[in-house]
Amino acid sequence: MASLKIVCSLMVIIGSLSFTPSRAFPGFNFGWGGGVGQTGGGYTGGGVGQTGGGYNGGGVGQTGGGYNGGGVGQTGGGYYGLSPAFYQYSCPQANDIVMSVLEKAIAKEPRMAASLLRLHFHDCFVQGCDASILLDDSATIASEKNSGPNKNSIRGFEVIDEIKARLEEACPQTVSCADILALSARGSTVLSGGPDWELPLGRRDSKTASLSGSNTNIPAPNSTIQNLIALFNRQGLSVVDLVALSGGHTIGVARCTTFKQRLYNQNGNNLPDATLERTYYNGLKTACPRTGGDNNISPLDFASPDKFDNTYFKLILWGKGLLSSDEVLLTGNVGNTVQLVKSFAQDEGLFFRQFATSMVRMGNVSPLLGFNGEIRTNCHLVN
Ligand code: HEM
Repeated sequence: MASLKIVCSLMVIIGSLSFTPSRAFPGFNFGWGGGVGQTGGGYTGGGVGQTGGGYNGGGVGQTGGGYNGGGVGQTGGGYYGLSPAFYQYSCPQANDIVMSVLEKAIAKEPRMAASLLRLHFHDCFVQGCDASILLDDSATIASEKNSGPNKNSIRGFEVIDEIKARLEEACPQTVSCADILALSARGSTVLSGGPDWELPLGRRDSKTASLSGSNTNIPAPNSTIQNLIALFNRQGLSVVDLVALSGGHTIGVARCTTFKQRLYNQNGNNLPDATLERTYYNGLKTACPRTGGDNNISPLDFASPDKFDNTYFKLILWGKGLLSSDEVLLTGNVGNTVQLVKSFAQDEGLFFRQFATSMVRMGNVSPLLGFNGEIRTNCHLVN
């Protein structure tokens, strides 16, 4: 702790002595962001969890305190990664503001927690955790909101807007929309009864979005286990991350259209998915008829839809997972996913710890750092 303080103070001193451009990058003046000499390509290849397995074996933000006591990646490279202390000086009340808005929104509608957790996931899987998902259509932006996985589905934008408005009042042009998404995902998990974790911060916001990336990188509900593993690997995430993060489906709902195939024609033979438990299947048919009803919703974890717990994994073991992508974690017969589902079903503490670890890893996917990107004033628009 003492050494962390010394490093921080040194950086502030060095920053104020030699880093005049920092004024142009509010929110970047102190803490880990206020680095020295981050020009040009200083970031490339060194960022946190950049592509290509950057996580495995030595990346930043690994479990077990990689962030604590001295920060990340400062060895000689002249760049800095994400850090939980990022807003320590520039906006110390950031998380309190996020939590107060979340408390109100989730009290009014418990499902909002699920929607906000998913928003962070759909952000991170498309050009990294850079708030690209929040950008609206414009002359230069084809919004990710219109992609297959997002259209008529992704929600929670008003809550993000309210948080952003409050943060702009308290600490103008300081807290990025990408960090707001990450803080909201953590806060939503905690407020639903799930685990808490130390959250690395300092992501900056993109000036671009990728509609095509949103269509191709986010897994579909009828994905095979091989697809799921491949799409997570593409983000530098492992099979353990896949199973643990799928546990996010312990809260929230899905529309009939996302699981209808399982009920009526799973394999092109007009038969239901044989892995579905009988009474659960009969109930689902009422909620989701063969024709119509596409927007009817069913809980992903019908036993405790608003509570973040390990029931999701127990339900999978009983043939009561809602999406095909949930059930294939058990029946897909690849790797150790079966064992992971069983372990998480048996031991909630284990699931919580791994979920927290995997959320940090997902949150570290290709963040924009330093002079890259910007701090948007309005999360819907490039500045
Ligand atoms: C493993 C691959 C995944 C697939 C195929 C998948 C698919 C889906 C689908 C189809 C829905 C319902 C959308 C709708 O009907 O509008 C959904 C909802 C949801 N997903 Fe996933 N998901 C995956 C991973 C994740 C991850 C990693 C998280 C977070 C850590 C997550 C969190 C959620 C939440 C919380 C909801 C409910 C949202 C709400 O009620 O508004 N999912 N997911």
